[in-house]
Amino acid sequence: MSDTKRFTRAEVSSYNKKDNTVIIIHNHVYDVKAFLDEHPGGHEVLVNVVGKDATEDFDDIGHSLDAKELMKKYRIGELVDEEKTAEKKRPQISSVTVVKEEGFLAAWKLPIFLGILATVVWQYFFN
Ligand code: HEM
Repeated sequence: MSDTKRFTRAEVSSYNKKDNTVIIIHNHVYDVKAFLDEHPGGHEVLVNVVGKDATEDFDDIGHSLDAKELMKKYRIGELVDEEKTAEKKRPQISSVTVVKEEGFLAAWKLPIFLGILATVVWQYFFN
């Protein structure tokens, strides 16, 4: 970790001012220069956040795990500890929706009961 380059937010916002392509996401610093034209979300969205903390924008999109893996390629360092934002643990949204499974019996309890009742009534009155 000691060879990780540390940046202040001020440095990021003025970094290569003319040609800045540096972004902060989750306290890490990325240079997206080589990625601008490859970004599936487009060049424009990245350009709009250069020099800034784009954590919220990044999270709002709900980037895939592939995107999170890919971004490691563009990481050039991280913020100095004093300027890091406490990472909120986002509630983990599971890709598997948990459906309360009540089972076959629960779903058919009433129809089965009505069926038996009807059979009994029919037997009683018509036989
Ligand atoms: C190094 C940083 C980033 C990487 C590696 C990256 C990568 C990707 C990838 C791979 C996708 C395709 C969809 C997916 O796999 O999730 C994507 C879509 C997108 N990204 Fe990024 N992204 C980065 C930063 C950002 C930032 C900072 C923003 C917003 C300011 C942004 C906005 C978007 C948008 C709007 C889409 C399109 C979503 C859609 O069409 O549904 N991305 N990005």
